[in-house]
Amino acid sequence: MAGELPSDFTWGVATSAYQIEGAVHAHGRGESIWDRFCRQPGRVRAAESGEIACDFYHRYPDDIALMRELGVDAFRFSVAWPRVIPDGTGPVNEAGLDFYERLVDGLLEAGIEPFVNLFHWDLPQPLEDAGGWPVRATAEAFVDYAETVATRLGDRVRHWITHNEPYCTAWLGYGLGIHAPGRTSVGDAIAAAHHALLSHGWTVEALRSAAPGSAVGTVIDYWPAFPASDAPEDAEAARIADGIRNRWFFDPVLRGEYPADAMERLATHAPPVRAGDMEAIAAPLDFLGLNNYSRMFVRADPGGGLPLTVRAPGGELTDMGWEIYPDALCEGLVRLHEEYDAPPLYVSESGAAFSDVVTHDGAVHDLERIAYLDSYIEAMTRAVERGVDVRGFFVWSLLDNFEWSLGYAKRFGLVYVDYPTLERTPKDSFHWYRERIRGSRSALPSTTVSVSPD
Ligand code: FCB
Repeated sequence: MAGELPSDFTWGVATSAYQIEGAVHAHGRGESIWDRFCRQPGRVRAAESGEIACDFYHRYPDDIALMRELGVDAFRFSVAWPRVIPDGTGPVNEAGLDFYERLVDGLLEAGIEPFVNLFHWDLPQPLEDAGGWPVRATAEAFVDYAETVATRLGDRVRHWITHNEPYCTAWLGYGLGIHAPGRTSVGDAIAAAHHALLSHGWTVEALRSAAPGSAVGTVIDYWPAFPASDAPEDAEAARIADGIRNRWFFDPVLRGEYPADAMERLATHAPPVRAGDMEAIAAPLDFLGLNNYSRMFVRADPGGGLPLTVRAPGGELTDMGWEIYPDALCEGLVRLHEEYDAPPLYVSESGAAFSDVVTHDGAVHDLERIAYLDSYIEAMTRAVERGVDVRGFFVWSLLDNFEWSLGYAKRFGLVYVDYPTLERTPKDSFHWYRERIRGSRSALPSTTVSVSPD
């Protein structure tokens, strides 16, 4: 299938700051909501935290060498806001910016394109203390932070991502209490979503002027909603779940409006929209990143509450309990192309956790991950064949890492990390991905040029 992707297709790996960096006290970094959350009993499995994580902060040169061996074109990482502006607003910590500058320079020297994401959930704690994402001032602070980073790195970074998965920022953090800061308020989740989206929109122009000629985009995750039964109530529940989980984010960013049906369903919690907000959120983008892992099954709540997600009726599951369903990725890309006037797309994350072990031969034979990646890349290729402009694919993740409230129990890496020693062991999937990338590059173009003597 290698031939169907464009020859300049970008193959990458994705990570995030809190999940890999560690060094949470190094060189003036401030406290993030994840540092605080991890200290609260019962929040994270086995009371783990990102305090050390993969120690990427110190070991990034070795990890760049691994990426070079892997042969990726691009590395998606996030900047930790508390490293750059420890209190969220106010003085800049130059040492934090220095770190990202060294990282970017190291990547460029290795021929790897940095895709810099400005927000992957590690909000500075002082901003949370002042109200967090549910308050508008956090969106204002984000613009200053984004400008600070882009002013330093804008001459070298060509791809900027404003946010990762605003659904998770808002709902996992403020609505469902699963992520930091652990609030459980639907109203807060909706306000948080609005301000995260608004900060995205405000930042697009700020990034373009601080980093002229660069491409600016954002990353939204996609979980298609399937009704759990043939009952009409479940079909309706799936439609509303799609509205809250997916369209609530795609519609504002790509159309400048919230989805009317989901808004009506959540009527008592309208987003705090002010004049001009929706136009700002819909700022034209150079690309959109889609994260996709699986799909959801939905049934109506007999008590009249919000739709309920239930376990998939069959199918193979990863270690996250997520069903392996590559068609969701193809369908999501096609949907963005057909239903929205989407800019060029990237698959900005896809990957799978399995309970990997290092075997006697010193290797990690993660055949299930290879099968997963093969099937998702094939699903993406089908979307490309249907005319969708997909520019790249990023595997989540380069390294096993801190999987949020599930701690270190879930291994997503192409590279196994032995946490006590921090030793890295490339898994079989690492070698497979390297060959997949090579194969794609050496594939013959689909049209042949005939050379005829004149
Ligand atoms: C995504 C997150 C990423 C990681 C993967 C498994 O939703 O963006 O940080 O947790 O899931």
